[in-house]
Amino acid sequence: MAVLVTGGAGYIGSHTVAGLLERGEDVVIVDSLETGHAGAVRGGTFYKGDIRDRSWLEGVFREQRIDTVIHFAAYSLVGESMANPAKYYDNNVQGTLVLLETMQRNGVKRIVFSSTAAVYGEPERTPIRESDRLDPTSVYGETKLTIERMMRWFQTSHGMEYVSLRYFNAAGAHVSGQIGEDHRPETHLIPIVLQAALGQRSEVAIFGDDYATPDGTCIRDYIHVSDLCNAHLLAIDYLRNGGSSDVFNLCNGQGFSVLEVIRTVEQVTGRAIPTAIHERRAGDPAVLIASADKARAVLGWVPQHRSLATIIASAWQWHQSQPHGYGSE
Ligand code: UFG
Repeated sequence: MAVLVTGGAGYIGSHTVAGLLERGEDVVIVDSLETGHAGAVRGGTFYKGDIRDRSWLEGVFREQRIDTVIHFAAYSLVGESMANPAKYYDNNVQGTLVLLETMQRNGVKRIVFSSTAAVYGEPERTPIRESDRLDPTSVYGETKLTIERMMRWFQTSHGMEYVSLRYFNAAGAHVSGQIGEDHRPETHLIPIVLQAALGQRSEVAIFGDDYATPDGTCIRDYIHVSDLCNAHLLAIDYLRNGGSSDVFNLCNGQGFSVLEVIRTVEQVTGRAIPTAIHERRAGDPAVLIASADKARAVLGWVPQHRSLATIIASAWQWHQSQPHGYGSE
């Protein structure tokens, strides 16, 4: 039986596909390649298409013997979601609805879902726990929360079991240096600072230095993409062993400010990073740090890449070996 990975050509999806292949799973990948990269898929059976295309997706389920789905396919830019909510509801929510219906029709009863810290919105306390208030401050976060709720009702009505993984700030790259982060446009802090280290950007804009944090810049909880991959593998095992539907934070439980990230990049790369203070970016919470105690206790998940320098060094290896990411495909 195969694991179907939607969005398997994206950043976290491609690392998870690599992890599945490394442990000998049969993997079927679907991706529209609108934001994913063909070069990021290094094995498995690949289908190019859009999960909203019902008859196409049905065909994939008919051709392959799928027992579990890992669902990454989504738009994920907070700013864009605020400018164009319909685009996000259509792709993220409608796309998942088609996927869940197709799974149900084909008797596939297990799904691992790519959720986000953005479901919490402005946190009510630190570290954030799964039972804390869910109040997204972006359309992107709202669509992911809507999907979590949809899965709960498919569980109630159809016995479809799910694990929802709420990632904090994904970073780093595969140990092989062959796959890594390549968003276009890039909006995430670590790749932007590394592009500055490569001389591809003249400076890094720091979005606000007047937050209520020790150095005034925003604090985030960075987690290595390979640790995220491992959590997906453990979530599959958990569901296959009869585990019941649940939601888990994936994070290191440690926060680093924007300035600390920039200083660590300078240490890792040995290059000076020019910076400029800009206005705050709309919707950025000051501090996002979470607890992964539940994932550790229930899934047995223990992140291996705890230090920020290690996470950044792994991203730097990718950016140096592939300075233009997957190139102009
Ligand atoms: N930042 C800068 N300059 C930049 C880019 C980012 O100062 O050029 C700052 C941001 O303001 C933020 C921090 O760096 O304070 C991290 O920003 P990222 O864009 O790397 O990550 P976010 O915390 O905004 O985003 C993450 C996930 C999203 C998710 C969001 C929820 O990547 O998918 O958390 O808040 F939606």
